[in-house]
Amino acid sequence: MRIEFVPADSQAGATAALAVLAYEAAALSPEAKAVNDAAGGAIVRAAAGGRFIGAKGQVLDIVAPAGLDAARVVVIGVDGSGVVEPETVEIAAAHAYNAVKTSGVTELLLKLGGDAETAARVAFGVKLAAYRFDRYRTTEKAEKKPSVATVKVAAADPAKAQKAFAALEPIADAILFSRDLVSEPANILHPEEFAARVKGLESLGLEVEILGEAEMAKLGMGSLLGVGQGSVRESQLVVAKWYGAADKSAQPIAFVGKGVCFDTGGISIKPAEGMEDMKWDMGGAAAVAGVMHALAGRKAKVNAIGVLGLVENMPDGNAQRPGDVVTSMSGQTIEVINTDAEGRLVLADALWYTQDRFKPKFMVDLATLTGAIIISLGNDYAGLFSNNDGLSEKLLAAGDAEREPLWRLPLPKAYEKQIESPIADMKNIGGRPAGSITAGLFLQRFVNGVPWAHLDIASTAWRKGSSDPTVPDGAVGFGVRLLNRLVADAYEG
Ligand code: BES
Ligand code: MN
Ligand code: ZN
Repeated sequence: MRIEFVPADSQAGATAALAVLAYEAAALSPEAKAVNDAAGGAIVRAAAGGRFIGAKGQVLDIVAPAGLDAARVVVIGVDGSGVVEPETVEIAAAHAYNAVKTSGVTELLLKLGGDAETAARVAFGVKLAAYRFDRYRTTEKAEKKPSVATVKVAAADPAKAQKAFAALEPIADAILFSRDLVSEPANILHPEEFAARVKGLESLGLEVEILGEAEMAKLGMGSLLGVGQGSVRESQLVVAKWYGAADKSAQPIAFVGKGVCFDTGGISIKPAEGMEDMKWDMGGAAAVAGVMHALAGRKAKVNAIGVLGLVENMPDGNAQRPGDVVTSMSGQTIEVINTDAEGRLVLADALWYTQDRFKPKFMVDLATLTGAIIISLGNDYAGLFSNNDGLSEKLLAAGDAEREPLWRLPLPKAYEKQIESPIADMKNIGGRPAGSITAGLFLQRFVNGVPWAHLDIASTAWRKGSSDPTVPDGAVGFGVRLLNRLVADAYEG
C-alpha cells in the first residue's frame, strides 16, 4: 500500500472512496459539507436514515453517491464541535481505512482537514491500521484481500505534510517490525533467528552484539541458561546500542525484554489448550527491539541500550527440573519450584547484566510475565511495578498519551516472604496470591538499586476484539509507542 500527500482540492476517482469527518449531532466538517452539496444532500439524508450522529468512531458508508465520481463516501464521527486534534484524526483515518479496506475500492482519499501535522497523523493512523501478517497465506481468495492499494491524504501543503510524516513514519515502521516478530510462529522465530533480525537493524545505525551460551556461561548466567537448557535452540542475549546523544559517553538509559520464543512451561508443562499463544511470550523483547528501531530510525538524541534475553522453554531429557537450584549472574541462588515461571529467571540475569555493564540512568523491563496480570487488569492495561516514583509518573504519562495505558501496582516488603526458599536465596514462585506482584518483587532483587520499572504486558501484547482501529487483532507491538514517547518527552536534548 502506497501513502501519498495530495493537494486539498484533489478529487476521488471512480474506483476510490472519499473519507470526511462529522462532529457532534452529525454536524459536517467543511470537507463533508462540500461533498454533501455536490452529492445533492446525500450525507445528510444517509445520516438521518442511518442513525448517524457523528459519535466517536461511528462510520457512515455511502455507496455510489449520485453527483460524485467517487465509488463511496465514508463519513467518520469524531465527537466534539470541530477542533481536530492529531490523535482524533489518527483514529478517524484508521476507521476510514478499516471501513473500506476490502470493499473493492483501490484508492482511499482522506480529507480530514488540518495542518501538515494532522495530515501526517492521518497517514500514521492508516499505516498502523493496514498492518496484516499474511506471510503464510497462499490460498486466500482475492475478494478477502485488502483492495486499497493507494491512500491519498489531502493536505493544504502536501510537501510540508510529507516532511512531517518523515518524522512519524520511523515510529510506525518500528511498531510494524515489532508486530511481525510477535506474529511469527516459534518454528521460524527461535532465539537465533530473532537475534539475526535485530542484527539486521544495524542498517539503521544501531550496534548489535549477540552473546551465545558459551559467553553467557562465562558471565555466570545460570538463571537464564537453565531456562533454555531443554531446547535444541541456542539461547541468545542480544545487546542493541544507540548512541544518539551529543555526548556519546553520557550515561545511557536501558530497556530489557523477556524473549521466550516459545513457552511450553518446560517440565511444569502447560495444558494443551491455548498453548499456541505462547509463541508471543517474546512480546517484551519485541517491544525492546521495536523501540530501538524507532530511536535509530528517527535519530533520537539519546544514548539507549536494549537488552533481549532470548530462550525457548521446552520439556526434554536435559531440561531443568522443579526443585533445581541455579546460580544467577548476581551470585544469588534460586530454587526453581516451577519451570513455567521462567520469564523472571531470564530477566534476573538480563537485568543484572544490564546494570553491571552499562550503569544506566534507569532500566525498564517489559515482559509477558504473568497470567495473573490479566486477572488483575483485563486486556486494556499493562501492569507497572517500580522502585522509583519519578520514572513511574513519566511512564504513566507516556502510556496515556500513546493509548498504551499502564496501571501501577505496589511492591510490598511484606510479600517478600512468599518467595523465601528453605534451601536457596529465593524460590521462583510465590503462590497464587498477588502473583504479578511477587514476580515483580523477584525481579527487584536483580536491579541492584538502580531506578527501575517493570511492565507486565501479558495482558496487552496480543489483542482479540480490538476497539482501537490502529491496532488490528493479533500482535499489538505494545510498548514501542510508549517507550518512544518516554524518550522523546523526558530524555532527549
Ligand atoms: N508466559 C507466561 C505468562 C503468560 C500467561 C503470558 C498468559 C501471556 C498469557 C509465564 O511464563 C507463566 O507461565 N507464568 C505463570 C507463572 C506461575 C507458574 C507462577 C503463570 O502466570 O501462570
Ligand atoms: Mn511460563
Ligand atoms: Zn513465559
